[in-house]
Amino acid sequence: MDQDFRHEPVMVTEVLDLLGPLPPGWVIDATVGGGGHAAAVLEAHPHLSVLGLDRDGAAVAAASRRLAPYGPRAQVVGARFDRLALEAEKLRRQTGSDVVGVLFDLGVSSVQIDRPERGFSYRSAGPLDMRMDPSSGMTAADVVNGYEEAELARIFRDNGETRWAGRMARAIVAARPLSDTAALAEAVAGSVPAPARRRGHPAARVFQALRIEVNAELEVLSATLDQVPGVLPRAGRALVLAYHSGEDRMVKDRFRSWSGGACTCPPGLPCACGAPRFARLLGRGARQAGAEELAANPRASAARLRAVEMVEMVPDPEDQS
Ligand SMILES: C[S@@+](CC[C@H](N)C(=O)[O-])C[C@H]1O[C@@H](n2cnc3c(N)ncnc32)[C@H](O)[C@@H]1O
Repeated sequence: MDQDFRHEPVMVTEVLDLLGPLPPGWVIDATVGGGGHAAAVLEAHPHLSVLGLDRDGAAVAAASRRLAPYGPRAQVVGARFDRLALEAEKLRRQTGSDVVGVLFDLGVSSVQIDRPERGFSYRSAGPLDMRMDPSSGMTAADVVNGYEEAELARIFRDNGETRWAGRMARAIVAARPLSDTAALAEAVAGSVPAPARRRGHPAARVFQALRIEVNAELEVLSATLDQVPGVLPRAGRALVLAYHSGEDRMVKDRFRSWSGGACTCPPGLPCACGAPRFARLLGRGARQAGAEELAANPRASAARLRAVEMVEMVPDPEDQS
């Protein structure tokens, strides 16, 4: 494995089982990171090729090195995943083969977290950056030193799911200007009651919330999920590993609506209401990591894996007369 980019991929067995039945073609690994999932797919499924996308140049370089042994079966491109449809079309024109699967392993990699100079971690001092693509966009410093207190509280509540959002926002505003991650972690730690500090470092939720805001993670995911049905053919599959309940909820709702979730017909009768139905859920609810993996990889504890398969569009009854 690449020494520069050590990240233990999560729920690999489950991902491989779900991708195995795909027809031959390309899988787009929209969050290729260090190439852990991608390499496992290429190794286990000789009928599949992988296009990896990542918005982080360090990940693109690491995944390119990691996947080089697979030759033309692997490509890596530096791109935000909301270019999914464009990249799929480019690939189809270039190779003449279909994209049959899409995989998302959301969030940040251990490598981004473990590099203090990226500013993702409250455990070590670093710049208030948190951009997955450090070449563009606003930084965490712009948010903590520039947002109104009420807006900070909203993102801590929505993205950090903490009950102390208001106190944390107030403490940050009082401590401005904040110069680095250590100063931010200290301001947040001092804002919550002592018993709450004993249940893990309170800054963990603030850092997660800021990272989601800085990288517009929920907005980009929403826009990208909309593209998935247009990219995949019948029998194509989409898999999403989410680590944040807001993301998982979005994926769950979207998959449900693709698979007839908006249907208003009485249960047990064939659908006659015309609700869209062009996918089927693979499994009831989200899959979670097994006990053995949880013991070996703490990151797996938050993982929720959901998957759908594209099916023939169910015709609108209005069009059948
Ligand atoms: C959890 S890691 C993926 C690890 C990978 N599955 C592996 O096995 O090595 C998530 C990766 O997705 C990337 N990422 C997150 N959001 C992205 C987006 N909107 N577009 C492209 N890449 C994104 C991050 O930069 C990070 O490298």
